Amino acid sequence: MPRAYAITAEAIAAENARVAGDLEKFDVSKVIALDELALREMGPKDVHLKILVASAEHNVDHAALADTLNIAEFRGGKIYPGNSAVGEVLAVGRDVTRFKPGDVVITHANGEPDAYGYPLRIWAYDQPDSIGWYGEEAMVGDWQILPAPLDCGLNLWEIAALPLRAPTAYHLWRRGLGIFRVKVAREQLARLNVLGFGGGVSELFLMLARHEGHRAIFCSGSPERRRHLEGLGIETIDQKRFNRFVDRDDVKAFSKHVKKLTDGEGAHVVCDMLRGPVFAAGIAAAARAGVNVSAGWQLDKSIRYDSAGLSVRQITLDHSHLETITGCGAATELYGRVFKPTVHREIYAFGDLPRAFEEMHQNVQTGIPIVRVAQEMPQSVETLVT
Ligand SMILES: NC(=O)c1ccc[n+]([C@@H]2O[C@H](COP(=O)([O-])OP(=O)(O)OC[C@H]3O[C@@H](n4cnc5c(N)ncnc54)[C@H](OP(=O)(O)O)[C@@H]3O)[C@@H](O)[C@H]2O)c1
Repeated sequence: MPRAYAITAEAIAAENARVAGDLEKFDVSKVIALDELALREMGPKDVHLKILVASAEHNVDHAALADTLNIAEFRGGKIYPGNSAVGEVLAVGRDVTRFKPGDVVITHANGEPDAYGYPLRIWAYDQPDSIGWYGEEAMVGDWQILPAPLDCGLNLWEIAALPLRAPTAYHLWRRGLGIFRVKVAREQLARLNVLGFGGGVSELFLMLARHEGHRAIFCSGSPERRRHLEGLGIETIDQKRFNRFVDRDDVKAFSKHVKKLTDGEGAHVVCDMLRGPVFAAGIAAAARAGVNVSAGWQLDKSIRYDSAGLSVRQITLDHSHLETITGCGAATELYGRVFKPTVHREIYAFGDLPRAFEEMHQNVQTGIPIVRVAQEMPQSVETLVT
């Protein structure tokens, strides 16, 4: 039977008991455990995959900590996580025409599209019965995969960094820009100031903005990630210089810094996947008519703001979730051309996946964490494995 990682409500409770509910001491690696998984029988529209590489995604940190929702308990006591992977097609069901054995594919995480294509639920998270891809093999519907752009110029680890984060960034950018353009036409202001805070999604968001000729500014506590973005023409700010916005004076000083950098204007589009203290900083640094976009709540689920103040400044807050499946396909066209992700310096072995998550939780990684699942790689990707 193929092996796959699981998170159980029992393991979460045991770790919570060990640390007496203190999430600061919580060890995520203790609740993500290797298990065995019987794949469902192949249906006519199914594809049998061998998982080659996966990226560690932050929703698994949330699942293990149960800090936003105890999703393992909600799903009946156990989940098999993992919604970003690159795989090789081993076999296809009789009605599958888009894929054949030997193809290399990427996944998306849209668990169930709504009437407009946006996900009602996320695969391997809140979609009932969904089984994730932190395993050696998987059985998926053919609608859940897209061809991997193996000729995009990225190596396999970089490609594996993108299936979830790139479509999210793509979606946030097209919304942020579109909303700003409802208010301020291109003829009035062509080049925007675009600000993003640390994290893989934000980095990709800024790459899009920069590629389209805008001024992109990355505010992060990670020197390695800042260096990578500087190499792509993106300006950077060390978030730690502003104490990660612990108090109002830090926020004020940050806002002053951004205003100075932008000739008093501020940021027209801000990407904030973190919330918590970052939200106040993003709002303070926003330009008049600015747009603050988010699809994340890593530091806090709730935000408080002065509605009158935002009205007077004509500021729009936009909340989104994942991209549509069509949008995921469009984002994939930009791999390597626009999206050049940071990758953490260690490529984790499959057996080290729990440690990858604990190190993500501790925020000590130098880029997006990648886990090599398969030892044997197909010939088609051999030159992409560095
Ligand atoms: N809804 C969706 O579609 C969707 C999709 C993807 C992700 N998300 C969510 O969005 C959030 C970010 O995801 P991601 O993939 O971009 O994250 P990521 O690549 O794992 O990066 C997380 C970032 O968090 C920052 N950070 C950690 N502790 C911090 C603190 N105390 N104060 C300020 N910053 C801190 C770090 O930035 P520094 O560089 O400053 O250290 C780090 O780079 C997560 O909650 C994730 O679940 C949602």
